[in-house]
Amino acid sequence: MDTVVSGIRSTGNLHLGNYFGAVKNFLKMQDKNNCYFFIADYHSLTTYPTPEDLHNNVKTVLAEYLATGLDPEKSTIFVQSDVREITELYLLLNMNAYLGELERTTSFKDKVRTQPKNVNAGLLTYPVLMAADILIHKAHKVPVGKDQEQNLEMARKFARRFNQMYKVDYFPEPKPYNFGAELVKVPGLDGAGKMGKTAGNGIYLTDDAKTIRKKVMKAVTDSGPTEMNSPLTEPVQNLLSLMKLVSEKETIDFFTEKYKSCEIRYGDMKKQLADDIIKFNAPIREKIIEISSDTDYLRKVAKFGAEKAKESASKTLKEVRGIIGFKQF
Ligand code: TYM
Repeated sequence: MDTVVSGIRSTGNLHLGNYFGAVKNFLKMQDKNNCYFFIADYHSLTTYPTPEDLHNNVKTVLAEYLATGLDPEKSTIFVQSDVREITELYLLLNMNAYLGELERTTSFKDKVRTQPKNVNAGLLTYPVLMAADILIHKAHKVPVGKDQEQNLEMARKFARRFNQMYKVDYFPEPKPYNFGAELVKVPGLDGAGKMGKTAGNGIYLTDDAKTIRKKVMKAVTDSGPTEMNSPLTEPVQNLLSLMKLVSEKETIDFFTEKYKSCEIRYGDMKKQLADDIIKFNAPIREKIIEISSDTDYLRKVAKFGAEKAKESASKTLKEVRGIIGFKQF
């Protein structure tokens, strides 16, 4: 049986990118694998949440995990900071992670550009903490979206390096879910790039019908095709990509044809897309509201998950310490 590990940073509500890039694949995996799904609250510290926000965001993501169908009886659902063994493995892996390779990661370079006043060491070693999350359970598979591809490559590299350094075959090399296939990239509504939390271009699972309509109707398009069969521009391709996630095939075919024949009306297309997202979101949103208010249940799930995750993590850490050469007198 494969071990699967994945997590989401607790920096706010989950959006459709998180759902279709990661959660949907978690759901497919939890029946047949040994799954660990966690809330990455240590990772969220790179953006300095207030103490209240730190806890509330963890609570939000936990409720959203459960509302989408993650099952605490089938999977180990836990909060990263409840499993301190992860931080020790992070320290140990940091000894074999080099400045050059960390500085070269795309996400780090992006942060240096976008937040030059806060280039903290946590950002630099972000992929090492992520590798620790994955390796602490000796994961074989990691369901993530396209944006995490490079971080996952780093985790494989650190696993390989550890095995070579100590001449052991200890850590499996963690592969993305659906290894070999293209990873999912959910586009945002602003015409370019991926859907994200910071970009403010996303639709959240908690968005109500009115909010979804407003966001989708404002989505960037182009001035319309002027020649038959012209290639799709990026903003229109993005709307179609979103449709592919939530709409019927006939709907997608219909608007693709209309574009080709230069008869497309973006207003109609957006209205349809908004309706389909609303239909998709509604039952999840209702569940989120219901579960969020049940603090006792959330506490029980987190406690149960932490116990299971700690069991696996402490076993790995004990073995890793032994391999490295830590011994008791
Ligand atoms: P985060 O919190 O940015 O995103 C969580 C998950 O959602 C996916 N995702 C997307 N997928 C497709 N299209 C999008 N527009 C999109 N936006 C987000 C991400 O690929 C991710 O799977 N470093 C991670 C959290 C993490 C982690 C881990 C993941 C920490 N430790 C260990 C896996 C294993 C992150 O910041 O994801």
